[in-house]
Amino acid sequence: MAEPPGDRILVTGALGQIGTDLVEALRARHGTDAVIATDVREVPEHLLLEDGPFRLLSVLDGDGMDAVVREERVGTIYHLAAILSATGEKEPELCQRVNVGGIVCVLETARKRGLRVFAPSSIAVFGPDCPSIAPQVTPLSPTTVYGRTKVTGEVMAVNYWKQYGVDARGIRYPGLISWKTPAGGGTTDYAVEIFHAALEKGHYECFVSADTRLPMMYIDDAIRATTSLMDAPVESIGPARGGYNVSGASFTAQELADSITERVDGFTCDFVPDERQAYADSWPADIDDSVAREDWGWKAEYDLGRMVEEMLDRLGAQS
Ligand code: NAD
Ligand code: SER
Repeated sequence: MAEPPGDRILVTGALGQIGTDLVEALRARHGTDAVIATDVREVPEHLLLEDGPFRLLSVLDGDGMDAVVREERVGTIYHLAAILSATGEKEPELCQRVNVGGIVCVLETARKRGLRVFAPSSIAVFGPDCPSIAPQVTPLSPTTVYGRTKVTGEVMAVNYWKQYGVDARGIRYPGLISWKTPAGGGTTDYAVEIFHAALEKGHYECFVSADTRLPMMYIDDAIRATTSLMDAPVESIGPARGGYNVSGASFTAQELADSITERVDGFTCDFVPDERQAYADSWPADIDDSVAREDWGWKAEYDLGRMVEEMLDRLGAQS
């Protein structure tokens, strides 16, 4: 393996739901200047990422990525750029091009320049044949284009480790719930939108049925899972390196609405399923994360109640 050009961190898709929080967390740990945020679009006014380095970069531009890695002396890439499930089913060609093309570009750059890589996977890798509590090892038969691109990403990460020694690691994130940035076109977006609607309108029309149960995770747990995985010594990382199962909290859309109703006077929720119901129905209800617990000590801290409190506090303080 080549020696990396430096030890700074490059984040792709940094303006998205996870990137907004991850860049802040990485800058708090490593220093503002050590983290280069990149995205294919300019920084919107309401984000404060301009406090640190930002570069426009498409993850499909291999030469551009290589140049940024050398100029900015990068040693690790956190690769977040992607097209999520709901947008991906509407625009399957775009989803395939960005998600598969992006991971190819990142892993090739890592191979040439000796970089470490974090590349997230998703619960969308599972399909209807998966047990309702998804095991780490099970056939992966996703029905969505997005899910298939995530399986490809996992397989490629493992192959680059085996063939070239690229230390690429990933997590199968559950649906993530956060307050700084809106969710970015996924099926689990209802679990974020519901909080904004509760505080702004007192009502939410939920696009999945009341009894839809999915694995979810509060953003602080997701960021901690990410940094814990990347901090773990390489000897502790096992065959699940392409996509570790991590569990946060599993609840139905009705249980989420009820938990908000307990805290927001007069809040009501209707359930009017649309095409996203089918994607949700193809995913497991819960996650078995025993391998992540064993390999690198993972344990979630936020259950449904704590997460709802935190979301309402944070969003309430913002408005
Ligand atoms: P998001 O949609 O909020 O953000 C993605 C970012 O990628 C956007 O800022 C977008 O501008 C950028 N982007 C799109 N095309 C690009 C390109 N060609 N080049 C560079 N940037 C581009 O997504 P997110 O929720 O932050 O997800 C980040 C990662 O985590 C993705 O890989 C996603 O599959 C995975 N994930 C997310 C969730 C979740 O619930 N948010 C769950 C499981 C997995
Ligand atoms: N939250 C994501 C989505 O719904 C899962 O990867 O697309």
